Amino acid sequence: MKNHLAGRVNSPIPIPAYYPSDIIKGEGPYIFNKNGDKYIDMWMGYGALLFGHADPDIIQTINNNIKNGWFFSYQTYFEKELSNIIHDIIPSAEKVRFATTGSDVVAYSIRASKSYTDRQKVLSIIGGYHGVHEGMIPSASIPDNQNLDLIPFNDIVAVKEKLKNKEYACFLLEPILANSGCTPPRENYLKEIRKICDNTGTVLIFDEIVMGFRVNIHGAQGLYNVTPDLSLFSKAIAGGLPLSVVCGRKEIMESFIPTGNVFFAGTFNANPLSLNVSKTVIKKLKNGNFYTKTQKLGDDLRDYIREQINRLQIPACVQGIASMLTVAFGCKSFIKGIKLEGCDDTVYNFFIEEMAKRHILLPPLPTETVFLSPVHESVIDEIKIAIKQSLEEVKDKHYR
Ligand SMILES: Cc1ncc(COP(=O)(O)O)c(C=O)c1O
Repeated sequence: MKNHLAGRVNSPIPIPAYYPSDIIKGEGPYIFNKNGDKYIDMWMGYGALLFGHADPDIIQTINNNIKNGWFFSYQTYFEKELSNIIHDIIPSAEKVRFATTGSDVVAYSIRASKSYTDRQKVLSIIGGYHGVHEGMIPSASIPDNQNLDLIPFNDIVAVKEKLKNKEYACFLLEPILANSGCTPPRENYLKEIRKICDNTGTVLIFDEIVMGFRVNIHGAQGLYNVTPDLSLFSKAIAGGLPLSVVCGRKEIMESFIPTGNVFFAGTFNANPLSLNVSKTVIKKLKNGNFYTKTQKLGDDLRDYIREQINRLQIPACVQGIASMLTVAFGCKSFIKGIKLEGCDDTVYNFFIEEMAKRHILLPPLPTETVFLSPVHESVIDEIKIAIKQSLEEVKDKHYR
């Protein structure tokens, strides 16, 4: 079929020639292309699909709600309902706003911080990713305006140095760096930056768009017991439907119109279908065993990969947390994100091609994270065999 998409894609992430480009269906751990070929998906909608593809409870929620209409220009009952739920489970969520994409809420949080502090500068992290908006942070590691400064993750000295003159409106970061290989924070890193932000009047923003709801029902802030001033959620919160959240301290959130003068708008904000799916996602997370299951699955797979790396004696590593993990080549660990620590993209690409030959798809960028779901339990042996064989191929081709 002809492809009239500009550059043949809708994303900056390249689709390798050996990956399918005609997906039409997902079910549990699998995705299927037009010919009916089946692949195990280890990217899971950039992490949005906590329960795998076509989860029956989410399908039921969509079916139950769509017949009542799916879009209203008036305030819905559901937005108030979900704001209460978020307020109750997210420590920082004194006040809540719903938007549509992650990029939206990044932009809103930065605007609100600038207005609240009357400062213009923004501090963020090398290798982080916070969306696409002009004048904000367009892509990982590329500052597009002179008011944005980037420092390495997990580096307290750099934070102190930058913030000491009280010039920055906000420090925006992923509390678990998930866009430069999965890089958890060092012990006390988040507690320390909380203190520095308090002492310098800098708004601390946790971008939990990747890990929020995935690592803990109370967010990464609940897991590490550090409450930011503002928090951002998207992806997993609505199980793969478009929804994003900015929430935080009342006095900063009230910078938004109508209580303040920071503009906030969006035709599709607080989409009713997404709000209802989000209620189902949170209910399932509260009542089920998602966290214990995926922790066990993640630990087991990380241990297995580590064993294989040790057995083959190749320069590689695996790291992550809970249901998130990254395999990297050419380095033994990374604490500032793989962008800064010399990981080898060529070997990674060879590895994922070997996995794809075995019909298992990993993220096609070395900086992205594998996302596990309880649905992977049923295929974990198949995944392990493919990893073992693919790492053997890596050794033969690259490290003999
Ligand atoms: C941490 C983080 N923040 C913000 C965004 C932007 O979200 P969206 O693509 O929904 O605009 C992303 C997207 O991957 C992200 O990973």
